[in-house]
Amino acid sequence: MGRIVGAYFSPTGGTRRALEEICGLLDAPWDRLELAGPEKGSCALGREDLLVLALPVYAGQRPAVPGLLDGLAGEETPCLLVATYGNRHYDDALAQMRRELGERGFRCVGAAAVVTPHIFAPTLGVGRPDQEDLTVLREWVRGARDKLARPDWTQAEVPGNPAPPPRPAVPVKKDRDWDICLGCGFCARVCPTGAMDPKTLLWADSKCISCMACVAHCPVGALGYNSSALAARLTELYSTRRPVETFL
Ligand SMILES: Cc1cc2nc3c(=O)[nH]c(=O)nc-3n(C[C@H](O)[C@H](O)[C@H](O)COP(=O)(O)O)c2cc1C
Ligand code: SF4
Ligand code: SF4
Repeated sequence: MGRIVGAYFSPTGGTRRALEEICGLLDAPWDRLELAGPEKGSCALGREDLLVLALPVYAGQRPAVPGLLDGLAGEETPCLLVATYGNRHYDDALAQMRRELGERGFRCVGAAAVVTPHIFAPTLGVGRPDQEDLTVLREWVRGARDKLARPDWTQAEVPGNPAPPPRPAVPVKKDRDWDICLGCGFCARVCPTGAMDPKTLLWADSKCISCMACVAHCPVGALGYNSSALAARLTELYSTRRPVETFL
């Protein structure tokens, strides 16, 4: 195996933690690659390398961040795809990721849908991935390595629509407490879509994807949101534990 790159978009940290656990199961050194924000990078990988890509699910799809995957270039490069989601469902996200990565020169050796904390519903996905999840993921990683050792391996099939029509996310209202805001502008720097104006620090609702990176990264907690109505609905409908699903 050549180079291993773990690439991710993780506005509130759940996807990054899941990726770290999964890359840790590979028992080999790996490089971290952020796909958005101030530390955004890129990589070009070859046939002997491996990409592990983890993205959160938004409204059943991968986040609609313009240019999110532009930094990834493969050349028949095997990849493991990970969709993290808050225990509702991942719908079309894995199929969409598989298609888009295919267009960028990657071949899907395996995919996993992994439950992580739901940013809008505090009881959903809490503490996940947990030991039970990691047992499943360890087997999946082992299976992927065995598969890669065979020269004639075929791509994993995943459920969902590979080219779903854009689905708008449920807007969640944010507020800023100007009394404690430092005016540092960090919230605008971490915004993946350029929705927040770095001078006025106001956000344009038309560009905001409700990822809450700005809220999560504010050093003094000046930004907040109220998702209680959404949380009540999600909790009522989606509290039954969903298992990790894997595909090889
Ligand atoms: C705008 C938005 C839409 C979401 N849509 C879904 C969804 O369709 N299904 C689901 O199970 N979780 C959904 N979630 C929950 C996220 O997938 C989950 O919180 C994820 O872990 C966030 O990743 P992060 O912690 O790396 O930012 C959504 C979260 C956000 C912010
Ligand atoms: S990161 Fe927080 S403190 Fe800094 S400008 Fe944004 S809201 Fe204000
Ligand atoms: S303004 Fe919207 S898109 Fe930008 S970081 Fe905040 S929640 Fe995300």
